Amino acid sequence: MEQFIFHNPTKLIFGKDTLSRLKDEIPTYGKKVLLVYGGGSIKRNGIYDQVLSLLEEVGAEVHELSGVEPNPRLSTAKKGIEICKNEGIEVLLAVGGGSVIDCTKLIAAGAKYDGDAWDLVTRKAVANEALPFGTVLTLAATGSEMNAGSVITNWETNEKYGWGSGETFPRFSILDPVHTFSVPKDQTIYGIVDMMSHVFEHYFHKATNTPLQDRMCEAILTTVMEAAPKLVNDLENYELRETILYNGTMALNGMVSMGYRGDWASHGIEHAVSAVYDIPHAGGLAILFPNWMKHTLDTDVSRFVQLAVRVFGVNPEGKSDREVALEGIDKVREFWNSIGAPSRLADYEIGDDQLDLVADKAMARGPFGGFQTLEKEDVLAILRASL
Ligand code: NZQ
Ligand code: ZN
Repeated sequence: MEQFIFHNPTKLIFGKDTLSRLKDEIPTYGKKVLLVYGGGSIKRNGIYDQVLSLLEEVGAEVHELSGVEPNPRLSTAKKGIEICKNEGIEVLLAVGGGSVIDCTKLIAAGAKYDGDAWDLVTRKAVANEALPFGTVLTLAATGSEMNAGSVITNWETNEKYGWGSGETFPRFSILDPVHTFSVPKDQTIYGIVDMMSHVFEHYFHKATNTPLQDRMCEAILTTVMEAAPKLVNDLENYELRETILYNGTMALNGMVSMGYRGDWASHGIEHAVSAVYDIPHAGGLAILFPNWMKHTLDTDVSRFVQLAVRVFGVNPEGKSDREVALEGIDKVREFWNSIGAPSRLADYEIGDDQLDLVADKAMARGPFGGFQTLEKEDVLAILRASL
């Protein structure tokens, strides 16, 4: 293991009928609230009305920022920052999926920063201060509800980057599985792919002696793979939604990744793809990840063998390590196909005409990847294999 400090200050409030806890949490931070949400799903499923009435009960003065896009945009966060500065907002409440939460993180930090909020995303400046914010999560996927990360797209320059600081953890997050019942099948599938991908990003690392971390990662993968096929055909099943929701948080809240740094190159490439084509994050991951695996296999085949045998049930008898590893990778693809995830860039009508641009975007911060460092030729090879 490598040295590590684990610190996660987010209060996780999980379970059926937990929304009313808003009445305890919000007043701790202030009365002037900015409610941030997306394109209207929370109005259709009734969560918006419930949140507003709870905020009314505690006498909050509520301002709103709606219309946060999937792949949230800098321009939208800037609107929120304006509201915070003009209205003296004291606390923010994100109600939605990862995009709404990520946008709220930039608003919270941007409200306390005098320069251009894009500086925080490009890491020209560090967010040393932020307004407090909480979340009501409505989609199991990113883990943003219990981590400090935020991914923001600058649509004017087609750049999409992750950023964050110790100040951008939610103060609290309320997770009621019932709030995820209305997530449509395609977004449910994307969420499953995203949380599995987060575990894969952890799993491929170069540290030694991580037996407990490996087992925790494998436990998340096997648990998700057991529940997912049932859930995609039974979207309002409480127990399956509960299982997936909890796994999504655990996959990216730091609990299973202590003592090593994962890879994160597939996320880097995907962010470049969605910065240019605006496709769903995990749709891109489903396409790219198995191809990244094949490309980096020889860096340390033992990690792939362990995954293949322990998680995907590959029988290693009479096979070379490489054969076992490749069979495991094929099973990742097969599993994602079986639940309905996309497998080729062509599924989003993406051809080879802008691959070079996408690769340049991915390389903007230099060679990347903790397991294997990728250069532009590597990125292009993975993209070409994904066409
Ligand atoms: O906008 P609304 O109307 O709310 O609809 C959303 C959106 O269209 C809808 N939705 C959410 N909850 C729903 C619902 N529809 C019906 N019922 C509900 N209960 O789902 C659509 C997608 O929402 P979005 O928030 O974009 O999805 P997700 O949670 O997958 O977030 C994706 C974003 O997170 C970033 C991605 O890059 C992408 O921008 N990521 C953030 C991470 C982090 N902060 O740690 C890590 C991830 O790897 C990821 O990169
Ligand atoms: Zn992700």
